[in-house]
Amino acid sequence: MGPVLLRVEGLTKTFGGVRAVDGVDLEVSPATVTGLIGPNGAGKSTVLGMLAGAIRPDAGRIRLGERTVSGQPPHRMAQMGIIRTFQTASLFPQLTVLENLLLGFKPWRGERPRAALFARGWKRQEAAQVGRARPMLAQLGLNRHENTPAASLSGGERRLLEIGRALLAEPTVLLLDEPMAGVAPHLGELVAGLVDGLVTTGTAVVLVEHEMRVIERLCHSVVVMADGKVIVRGTLDEVRTNQQVRMAYLGQ
Ligand SMILES: Nc1ncnc2c1ncn2[C@@H]1O[C@H](COP(=O)(O)OP(=O)(O)O)[C@@H](O)[C@H]1O
Ligand SMILES: [Mg+2]
Repeated sequence: MGPVLLRVEGLTKTFGGVRAVDGVDLEVSPATVTGLIGPNGAGKSTVLGMLAGAIRPDAGRIRLGERTVSGQPPHRMAQMGIIRTFQTASLFPQLTVLENLLLGFKPWRGERPRAALFARGWKRQEAAQVGRARPMLAQLGLNRHENTPAASLSGGERRLLEIGRALLAEPTVLLLDEPMAGVAPHLGELVAGLVDGLVTTGTAVVLVEHEMRVIERLCHSVVVMADGKVIVRGTLDEVRTNQQVRMAYLGQ
């Protein structure tokens, strides 16, 4: 699998007595897509939350390259290149499509985004950033909606916009939590194409997705979780035929 970019060891999180994540190990290489799958409640979103810095691990370690990054808050994780999109879109509904997209750029990614819009130096940077955001809007098929409030977009379009914003941050590691949820099939293919493109630039993607066709289309390897633990890892074909995986899904 080549060099390891993101290394997770013994990651653990308990919520009020429930071991949501229980000793998870992961290794993620640059320019790969790792699928994180498993039944509802397996702990997938909690793993992503810890990788993004939104949830503080009770135990375990997250390393990005040579650095230990576990325990850092989300804006620090984002500055170090770990960017997440949410299971439900997290846009600013009153801001326009273009404004939402501009919030993806460094150096304000993740940190007090509203304030960033009015920060000193914004105007100067704005022209350059708009120059990069417009091609992204076109790629997303949202150029007609540049000045539309995000609230007016369809669910699928909002999802695309959120992913576009994450891409503009040029993540080292992109964490996608069910990016295809509520996205029409033709828009889904657009999302998949964007992920492919990002991976060719060296980004490592961790993808939580329940739609197996999407996993098959995008992932180089798959990690299966159940009850907070990794039960199997390998290629999709390897895990698909695994008895424990079948049990985990049937037992749902
Ligand atoms: N903030 C929270 N408070 C309490 N329990 C939680 C919280 N987040 C997740 N859980 C519980 O942790 C377990 C794993 O949840 P989650 O990571 O969302 O699973 P998945 O994304 O695989 O469906 C579930 O039992 C869920 O109810
Ligand atoms: Mg989830």
